[in-house]
Formats: sequence, structure tokens, C-alpha cells
Amino acid sequence: MAKIIICALLCVAMFGSMAAAASGGCREANGTSPVSGSCDAYIECKNGVAEEKLCPDGLLYNEKSTGYPCGYPIDVECTQAQSRLQAAQPTEDCPHQFGYFRKGDAGNCGQFMNCDAGRGFVFDCPEGLAWNPATYKCDWPDQVEDCDAEAFLGFRCPALAPKSELLGEQEADYTFHPSQDNCQVYFICIEGRPRRIGCGEDQAFNQELKQCDDIENVPNCSSAIREKGAQIKAARLHAKKN
Ligand SMILES: *[C@@H]1O[C@H](CO)[C@@H](O)[C@H](O)[C@H]1NC(C)=O
Ligand SMILES: *[C@@H]1O[C@H](CO)[C@@H](O)[C@H](O)[C@H]1NC(C)=O
Repeated sequence: MAKIIICALLCVAMFGSMAAAASGGCREANGTSPVSGSCDAYIECKNGVAEEKLCPDGLLYNEKSTGYPCGYPIDVECTQAQSRLQAAQPTEDCPHQFGYFRKGDAGNCGQFMNCDAGRGFVFDCPEGLAWNPATYKCDWPDQVEDCDAEAFLGFRCPALAPKSELLGEQEADYTFHPSQDNCQVYFICIEGRPRRIGCGEDQAFNQELKQCDDIENVPNCSSAIREKGAQIKAARLHAKKN
């Protein structure tokens, strides 16, 4: 926090002349207004006195906010013609002091960081999902720009057979593929891109049904996994009885 305050003071000093130029007009005695051409600077008026301020690095000025005037880029629409921003203040962890960012490279898209004053706190997406910086949510990796879904999931869809319009043959839109090393996981290929589906602890992928099924119906699982599945099922039945 101290750093932000120091920065804010420095920046106000640096932009002092601009602030003076802008301070002519406080629309209201108390409130904030945008600075032309900037997405993270704003004018704050207190009792009719204007002062130019900067949002912390990584946040943008949110004209619509009724409380704290700075927000994450996903929540703010910067309407300035030019979107000038302060220089980033990266740390060892973070590209900016504040915000949410993917942690890994294109082949490791499943983790993201919440950066808070330059400290990165790492979070995992649910298995098989990738952090989507466009939505700030965990998403199918094929839906995430800059994520290499095949590398991330360790699975490549078989090449699609060329469609034959003459014969009117209908290609399946979705194809199903077992994981080579986990009987409780399968992949759905949609337009040639894979998505990973986990069946849960007491189910496994039944290739004939093309869906998750009781482990006892899937002979391909190892005996250890079958045993564990049976135990979970027994525990569930037991819990239901009591
Ligand atoms: C502006 O805020 C100050 C306190 O910060 C308050 O005393 C004053 O009445 C406010 N002015 C208006 C017009 O709301
Ligand atoms: C078990 O594996 C074989 C060969 O990989 C496959 O043909 C069969 O459909 C699988 N059985 C089930 C129930 O998933």
C-alpha cells in the first residue's frame, strides 16, 4: 500500500501541470472524472478542489463506479480515444501490481495468479480447464486464445475425415476417445479440438456407451481403481441406508 501511495504522490507531482490545467472544471464538488486520453488516470474533486490521480498499476479508472474509482480491466470500459496507461511496474511474480494473469505458457494454461501489490497468489483451474484472460474464468482450453489445448491436455484429436458432400455422408460432430493412461478420463473432439472430461471417483469411461459408467461395467480399469470405485459405491449405499 505504501508503494501505491508513494507512486500516487510521485505521479501527481509529475502530472501536476496537467492536473492544474484540468482542475478548472469540477463537475461536482465531490466526485471523479476521466482524464482525456488516459485509461488509468482520473481527476478527483474534493470540496471543489481538483487533483489528478492514478489508479494502481494494472487497474483502470471506472467512470461508472460509485465507490472506489479503479477496477480490473474486465470490469471497466475505457471510452477514451487514446488509451494511454502508466508504465507497468512488474515484479518477479507479476506483470502488473494488480490483476489476474495466466501463470504458465501456452502449453500450461491451467493456472492463474491474482496479483495484489505485486505479490502473485496462484490458483488452479479445475482439471482440464484453462484460464481465460478474456473472461477471467476457467474455460475449455480450445476456447482460450494463446492456449495450446493439445499440448496442455496431452491429447491430439485424430484427423477429421474429409467430408463428402456428394455422398451426403454425415460426419459426427463429436468423437469420443479414451485416455491412454486413465480409464476414468476421456476426450471429446469437437471440430478437431480436444476437451478433457473426468468421470469422477466411482465412474469410468465406457467406450461402448461413449459415456461415464459404473466402474464395474468397465473391465478396462485396473483392479486397484475398480476396488476403490467399489469401496466408494459401498460407502454411498451405506450412507443412504442410515
Ligand atoms: C463533499 O465532501 C465533504 C466531506 O468530504 C462534505 O463536507 C461536503 O458537504 C461534500 N459536498 C457535497 C456538495 O456533497
Ligand atoms: C476396453 O478397451 C477396448 C480396447 O481399447 C475397447 O474396445 C472396449 O470398448 C473397452 N471397453 C469399455 C467398456 O470401455
